[in-house]
Amino acid sequence: MLVTGAGGQLGAALQEEFAAEGVVALTRAEWDVTQPPPPVPEDVGLVLHAAAWTNVDGAEEHPQDAAAANVGGTQHAAELGLPLVTFSTDYVFDGTKGAPYVESDPTNPQSVYGRTKLASEAAAGDGAWIVRVSGLFGWTSTNFVRTMLRLGAERDEVSVVDDQRGSPTYVGHLAAAVRELIEQPPGVWHVAADGDCTWAEFAEAIFEEAGLDCAVKRITTAELGRPAPRPAYWVLRSERPGAPQLPHWREGLRECLARLAV
Ligand SMILES: NC(=O)c1ccc[n+]([C@@H]2O[C@H](COP(=O)([O-])OP(=O)(O)OC[C@H]3O[C@@H](n4cnc5c(N)ncnc54)[C@H](OP(=O)(O)O)[C@@H]3O)[C@@H](O)[C@H]2O)c1
Repeated sequence: MLVTGAGGQLGAALQEEFAAEGVVALTRAEWDVTQPPPPVPEDVGLVLHAAAWTNVDGAEEHPQDAAAANVGGTQHAAELGLPLVTFSTDYVFDGTKGAPYVESDPTNPQSVYGRTKLASEAAAGDGAWIVRVSGLFGWTSTNFVRTMLRLGAERDEVSVVDDQRGSPTYVGHLAAAVRELIEQPPGVWHVAADGDCTWAEFAEAIFEEAGLDCAVKRITTAELGRPAPRPAYWVLRSERPGAPQLPHWREGLRECLARLAV
């Protein structure tokens, strides 16, 4: 296995999941995916492409850099000519459906990040597994769980949006699902945790599970005022036979917290 974006949270989980098979893990320093691929060892049989520009607000200001990493980077990963698993996002949808998004739903990205990720799906090519995922959290990198743990330890109250609903997904569960998915035919697959919640509900669960005495003030997306639009409804479900079923997001949260030794 070759893992790109090995310094990221999904990259870390993929390295662990496939450690027994042998992993060539490349961080951005080892392969900046905006550049053509380096030579890879001959025995690499599968590319797990986890490198991406993931700064959703920053992409609004730097669309070309975001496209270079997400579209150009995926094109370069495809140029390796090996079976490819790449990761896309719920942000390819506009979030107005009000019911779980399945693979055949029409896309309509509202942000630069979402548009670059949709274009990255095309760049991956027909033979790739394109795994749309949402609200990832893990034990490394910057993510909602780690941010809430920090804020919850510092403050008595945090303001969190309560009008965006989705299925936050633990990278450990996602990495295990990737193992199942590569036994299935390629194409677009939706993979997300079971259950759904708003970010405010997720924050409350984090404080509860971590034993932090911090209140959650429920606010709207408009009150938060971030530069990039976010889908209000971002639950992903699969309509494809054989799709991996993930544990509930709360189970993922517990595993992540145990890993962080909270
Ligand atoms: N995080 C989420 O909630 C979420 C939701 C939906 C989909 N996804 C998708 O899931 C995949 C994994 O994301 P993640 O959560 O693991 O994100 P992450 O923790 O931000 O990791 C992304 C990694 O990609 C690296 N990277 C960025 N630009 C690069 C470049 N030009 N060349 C090589 N590496 C580069 C980053 O390196 P630096 O640390 O040096 O920047 C980072 O290590 C991505 O495709 C992302 O779009 C994520």
